[in-house]
Amino acid sequence: MHYSQNDKLKVAQIYDNIAESYEERTTPLTYFQAAVREFLLENVHAGQRVLDLGCGPGHLTSPLPLDVEVVGLDISTAMVDAARRKRPTGTYLVHDFHQPLPAELGKFDAIVANGCFDFCENLVQVIDNVSVALAYGGRFFFTINERRAELPFHDARWIDAGGGQVDIRMFFWSFSETAAAIETLGLRPLTYRHAPGWENETLQTTIYYGYWVVEHLRTKE
Ligand SMILES: C[S@@+](CC[C@H](N)C(=O)[O-])C[C@H]1O[C@@H](n2cnc3c(N)ncnc32)[C@H](O)[C@@H]1O
Repeated sequence: MHYSQNDKLKVAQIYDNIAESYEERTTPLTYFQAAVREFLLENVHAGQRVLDLGCGPGHLTSPLPLDVEVVGLDISTAMVDAARRKRPTGTYLVHDFHQPLPAELGKFDAIVANGCFDFCENLVQVIDNVSVALAYGGRFFFTINERRAELPFHDARWIDAGGGQVDIRMFFWSFSETAAAIETLGLRPLTYRHAPGWENETLQTTIYYGYWVVEHLRTKE
């Protein structure tokens, strides 16, 4: 299958430019905070390792207790720098999730990928990249822009995220594509919800997410 692509440098630059103001500016526009908090509260315990993928300035996982090890990855250097300042004990690295995760990062008990798969160009590849880093029995929370025929702005495979101003694509995946990717990769879906994700001011619309929690059931290594 052929996948449409973004210029990754451009995506990184756009997020570099808003890294300092991102949390303050976007928080009032989002609906996902409670879902992320609930996932972390239920699934992260003392001594465990958490991966925050597409971590932005790290605000979702930086409040975790210090006896939890947090690793954050993001394509934007300025976001990674901001996250490191917020939680100096964490490990923060520049990484594109379309590429395999660095093996030296090891396995994680919980992985969060909130809001970053808006830019996911190849769902099976990206979920595969992530799930190899999920420990046996570990849990993975992610949101995905969900393609739905009946919802305005949600019926195409991708749209221009900036309404023609920035030339960056946001990608949309159907429920069936997401479920198939999860099944193909040997992950078990635990919860799923279709609900508002955030307000896109440029497009003046609500972007709806599929909220998924999946569990790793691959054979023990
Ligand atoms: C909408 S922000 C979400 C930040 C944070 N997770 C949150 O929920 O507030 C999207 C983040 O994904 C990052 N991102 C976009 N494409 C990426 C890629 N290919 N690999 C890694 N991070 C990416 C951006 O730099 C940005 O920090």
